[in-house]
Amino acid sequence: MRSLYLFFVAYIFGIATHTYSLDENRPHVRLHFPDRFLWGVALSEYQVSGAALCKESNWAYWENRQAKLVEDYPRSGAAAHFWEHYETDIMRMKKELGINSLRFSVDWSCIEPKEGHFDENALHHYVQLCVLLKKYDIEPMITLHHFTHPEWFEKKGGFERAENIPYFVRFCTKVFKALGRDVHLWCTINEPTIYAFQGYIRGVFPPGKRGFFSMVPTKKAVEVLKNLLHAHVDVYTALKKLPYGHQAQIGFVHQYLKFEPYSALNLFEQIPGWFLNAFLNDAVLHFCATGTFKYTLHVPFLAHINAFYKAPYGRFLDFIGLNYYSRVLVAVRPGHEYSSAYPGEYMTDMPYASYPEGFYEALKHVSSLNVPVYVTENGISDAKDDRRERFIKEYLTALHKALQEGCDIRGFYYWTFVDNYEWDMGYTQKFGLYELDHVTQQRTLRKGARVYAQTVLNNSLLL
Ligand code: BGC
Repeated sequence: MRSLYLFFVAYIFGIATHTYSLDENRPHVRLHFPDRFLWGVALSEYQVSGAALCKESNWAYWENRQAKLVEDYPRSGAAAHFWEHYETDIMRMKKELGINSLRFSVDWSCIEPKEGHFDENALHHYVQLCVLLKKYDIEPMITLHHFTHPEWFEKKGGFERAENIPYFVRFCTKVFKALGRDVHLWCTINEPTIYAFQGYIRGVFPPGKRGFFSMVPTKKAVEVLKNLLHAHVDVYTALKKLPYGHQAQIGFVHQYLKFEPYSALNLFEQIPGWFLNAFLNDAVLHFCATGTFKYTLHVPFLAHINAFYKAPYGRFLDFIGLNYYSRVLVAVRPGHEYSSAYPGEYMTDMPYASYPEGFYEALKHVSSLNVPVYVTENGISDAKDDRRERFIKEYLTALHKALQEGCDIRGFYYWTFVDNYEWDMGYTQKFGLYELDHVTQQRTLRKGARVYAQTVLNNSLLL
């Protein structure tokens, strides 16, 4: 009763309760992970190869348009030239990090730059990449849509229109026919909610459509989210019918993100959560559990939204990919950033704090869906590299706790391998285990990343 009371007081006044902070004086312990656990890194083609490679991508066109409107709009260029350097990079992944899985995306605009014209050389590139992964005993996990698609698809209205879904299914089928024999793990779509939020509420991703206050879901955003889930189901169904479809594990990737008030007494701090949590989290998790997407929002003069989609009867999810970084702690008070941290927490270079407690909560929540879970992204932007080691240790401790409690978590992918193009934030964010020298293209393993390599090597984490 007393602890419940204390928790209530802490919640009301906005005091953090830290479960995963590491005490320097503690005795060393070793946390063991299950046999055959997948340890990987995650990346997406556009973020590591840029507009220089993906010329026909909606993002390449978006960058061009933004550069005319916004001074110094960040351009991706050739990013880390991953397309050219993949052989040495994969060798590095094996030899220096020891990973046994790689999550990467196949860029649609490279494969189908013009509607109906498939570039067999580009497809062959990914075949070669998978051959190399096999040689190094690295299990591939492919993402078929990671925020980017061809500009011709965007011009048709992209995922705003359910009639466009068959174009995506056709592309996925093409890729699966080429790679399905050797690739068992498939993510159809990366973060449907974030794609819809950034492109149709905040307007910072293409097509740059904004909502009111950048906070209230718009009709378009909800329609896009609904169509993305619908597209996932259609791709799942189509791929399962192909040769090797039955042996493929097909899921999609959800970013578990919540807006929380700094203090429950401050109504202004509550508002973003009222509007966004149902859209960003609840509706998608409900869909995963039931096959039904339902979203309603009625705010006088602002929004009248009623969206509904039901997946046809039958299975549509073999696993769930979980991306988790943090929560947004909303502080509307003097002396605080909008997205803040409680005393004792530390900020990452992104506008959010480290929050391993939320990672544990997310793992427990998605595990209740009763499908295997892969942590498809987790990592820290830390230019000074003075928090990375601590972050990795605390988040992996949370992961271990969830495993101990019986959650069926099959793998963990660190975001990301090497510093990359962080979309509208350009190259300011340093998520890489490797630091990238943009002039020489040299990759240097960061000191704070060594704990990850050690954990992978021993399949256990030393605290
Ligand atoms: C996305 C990545 C992004 C990362 C870090 C995720 O939302 O999938 O593309 O780089 O977060 O912000």
